[in-house]
Amino acid sequence: MSGRRSIVIFGPPGAGKGTQASRLIRDFGFEYIATGEILRQAIAGDTELGRRAKGYVETGSLVPDEVVIPIVEERMRATRGNRSFLLDGFPRTIPQAEMLFEAAKRVGAPVEKVVYLNTPDEVVLERLTQRRQCRLCGAVYNLVTMPPKESGKCDGCGGRIYQRDDDKEETVRTRLKVFEAQTRDVMQFYRDRGLVLEIDGALPVEQSYATIAESLGEVQ
Ligand code: AP5
Repeated sequence: MSGRRSIVIFGPPGAGKGTQASRLIRDFGFEYIATGEILRQAIAGDTELGRRAKGYVETGSLVPDEVVIPIVEERMRATRGNRSFLLDGFPRTIPQAEMLFEAAKRVGAPVEKVVYLNTPDEVVLERLTQRRQCRLCGAVYNLVTMPPKESGKCDGCGGRIYQRDDDKEETVRTRLKVFEAQTRDVMQFYRDRGLVLEIDGALPVEQSYATIAESLGEVQ
């Protein structure tokens, strides 16, 4: 069995990071840190963090490093026990990648692998305009490929299904541009350290998942 570690799931918007993450959590029991989800909850709760992040998230720009980095640092520091970490949506900039590299070592869970879901823009656009999410538990659906059994209602918890504000086509295009301009460089940071597992993000969910799960080894 591997020791404590951090795994990053990386890729453009709509690559399927959250979808793969839900399976990894189920099978490996990771402590899950998804910065997009943390920010959306803060916005919904109208907290101070939410008010600082709102304008950026709604327009598809990156929330500044000085806002996002402390959230992740604090979560890693505060996590008790021996669980490994799964990071989704973080890092997105080189300063974030550098911070994670050091913080993960400090808490005894070094970054072991970066799963890169390489997914073309046209696939992403198609998926995100059809994506829906549960307001209560965050479960992700797709009206075409993974619809809920009952329209508008979450299969798992019965919560209401909604469309994310940043999933409108124009905002998705901005998010894709931001990925190209600001986030793609992070891949090189991890390639230089030999940590990248590249997966074709356009493959069916279970096919990608089988490769990812196998590469992470024994279920913990
Ligand atoms: P975030 O929430 O991280 O969004 P994202 O990276 O744009 O990714 P998504 O959640 O849109 O997509 P996903 O890859 O998880 O795809 P999913 O599995 O849902 O960030 C949102 C915003 O927060 C950012 O724009 C920014 O403003 C801010 N932010 C967050 N982190 C930040 C940071 N570190 N620094 C600065 N700002 C930050 O799948 C998509 C759809 O496709 C679903 O409908 C799903 O059912 C379907 N699907 C998935 N996989 C497949 C498949 N293989 N085949 C067919 N359909 C599939």
